[in-house]
Amino acid sequence: MSADEQALAYKMELSALEMLDWFIEAGADEATENSPINWFEISAKAVKIAPSQTPKHTIRPAAALAQPMISAAEIIKQANTVSKKSMTLESLEKNLRNFVGCTLKNTAANTVFADGKPASRIMIIGEAPTSEEDRTGRPFLGQSGALLEKMLHAIGLERSNDYYLTNILPWRPPGNRKPTETEISICMPFVKRHIELFAPQMIILLGSLPLRNLIHQDHGILKSHGKWYNYDLDDKKIPLMAIFHPNYLIQQPAAKKAAWKDLQEIKTKIEEIS
Ligand code: URA
Repeated sequence: MSADEQALAYKMELSALEMLDWFIEAGADEATENSPINWFEISAKAVKIAPSQTPKHTIRPAAALAQPMISAAEIIKQANTVSKKSMTLESLEKNLRNFVGCTLKNTAANTVFADGKPASRIMIIGEAPTSEEDRTGRPFLGQSGALLEKMLHAIGLERSNDYYLTNILPWRPPGNRKPTETEISICMPFVKRHIELFAPQMIILLGSLPLRNLIHQDHGILKSHGKWYNYDLDDKKIPLMAIFHPNYLIQQPAAKKAAWKDLQEIKTKIEEIS
């Protein structure tokens, strides 16, 4: 707790714990500094350390402010190397937790890797953790997670037994902001390796972020949901479908009818392949 917050807690005759509870109830979900940080000044100093490098786009490696700046392309290369070196899901998770190349890690409380049943062979890929997932380190725990579980329960799939959940981004973007293309590109090698190591029999994508980044097709989710695509994995073609993200369904309940039809398609495909 900062000095200002301590002073406020004292004035309100609250203990530190009561004060934190009060913040959470009031909707605060971010810890911020008392004074603003001039990142441009820090970047300028960092670039001075490595004058030979003149990258087009530079980003600040997480947890390593004093390190020289390296280009986004170099960080993506590192992400590729580290993920390819991971030979099991456990080592991929460990390597992802140790990876400091993505700035999102700076503000996240946890690395959110995956949850559910690895033996199930159905892999569901969402977008990014929000505050609940960031706090606990498990994907899809908040409101959208509850709706997702309900949707899948309706076609006979249970979280504890029948599917495995992960996200494109393992770190929560601060304030749930839209991730940048650089942040996504740094995380993609880990996602692709995650799919390789998990070796699913079916992939379900939630919303447009995984759709755009995993199968690179131009039509958005409104046109592409409910259609079967193939994900090429070595010499196999894995059936893949994108459905509406539960967050979208919370905001647009009228889309639930189409979502229900998509779920029926998934149920039929599961019956075919099992
Ligand atoms: N929680 C997640 O873990 N992923 C999402 O896409 C949304 C909420």
